[in-house]
Amino acid sequence: MLANFSKNFFLGVSRNVSLNKAAKKWGLRFGASQVVAGVTIESAIKKVQELNEKGLVCTLDHLGEFVSDRQEAIHATENNVKTLEAICATGVNSHLSVKLTQLGLEIDREFCVQNMKRILDTAKATNNFVRIDMEDYTHCQMTLDILKELRELYDNVGTVIQAYLHRANKDVMDLKSVNLRLVKGAYKESPEVAFQNKGEIDANYLQIIKTHLLSGSYTAIASHDHEIIAKVKQFTNENNIPKDQFEFQMLFGFRKDMQLSLAQEGYTMRVYIPFGDDWFAYFMRRMAERPQNVLFGIKGLFSK
Ligand code: FDA
Repeated sequence: MLANFSKNFFLGVSRNVSLNKAAKKWGLRFGASQVVAGVTIESAIKKVQELNEKGLVCTLDHLGEFVSDRQEAIHATENNVKTLEAICATGVNSHLSVKLTQLGLEIDREFCVQNMKRILDTAKATNNFVRIDMEDYTHCQMTLDILKELRELYDNVGTVIQAYLHRANKDVMDLKSVNLRLVKGAYKESPEVAFQNKGEIDANYLQIIKTHLLSGSYTAIASHDHEIIAKVKQFTNENNIPKDQFEFQMLFGFRKDMQLSLAQEGYTMRVYIPFGDDWFAYFMRRMAERPQNVLFGIKGLFSK
């Protein structure tokens, strides 16, 4: 019951507009620096370099979401372009992850698509790949429609499917040719659209992972769950699915030992590295996921 209260509390706080605005001025607080790689592109690139040296590849996320101001969306687009340019200039091994609500999806769909095209043109010119993160359910269909439109012009773009959604299996079947990141899902969704129970979510997660792997498509399994990871290893072994058809992904700051051991076993291990001053909603969702993460926050109250 306490876990449920804590989950709902942090997910609620993550959408609080005033707190998100205020947090931009605070700098990283409450221990957020353990899971957010600083506020500048330079600090994030430095983390990528360190992880690359350890045999891990990365994807950078210039934090930001639910933008309601055109100028802010343009600024976010420019920051993403600059991030791709910095990846290219420094020669680090990293993709880019973006959120469509950061690029103006809630302002004007066409404006958001144009911003995405600017980012994808830079990615194409610098030989990189961009993944569109999946946000809450109200944006799911729009995200998939935009992905479809973009994929008519670009092949260096993919997205994410959330296993807690009832529609997940159908979406994975429809997206056979797409490089997908598969996750359990991080937002608070209603029972009408999403499984609420861990057992059901885990079962659906394994189902969509198997479906996508068996269709021969590139699959990114993004989870810190050792049981899921063990089952994926067993399934790929038994079905002779080559290690270059899939990768594991984890968030920066989580299960660092497991990240290293997977890389040492010869799996591609990609670390998702968020950075930037818009860290609050991301950090609150991580607190919601796992009561132990709250310890970051409590310890962080006493240090910056
Ligand atoms: P879950 O939180 O269900 O944990 C299962 C078990 O694993 C726990 O009970 C515990 O035993 C163990 N465990 C988990 N974390 C641990 C830790 N830190 N240390 C020790 N043990 C731990 N979501 C979304 O909606 N849209 C998106 O675009 C993305 N993108 C994304 C990218 C990447 C790289 C990752 C890793 C995750 C996302 N997510 C996401 C978040 C995702 O949907 C999900 O909310 C979290 O990954 C939590 O689910 P897990 O599968 O990690 O395990």
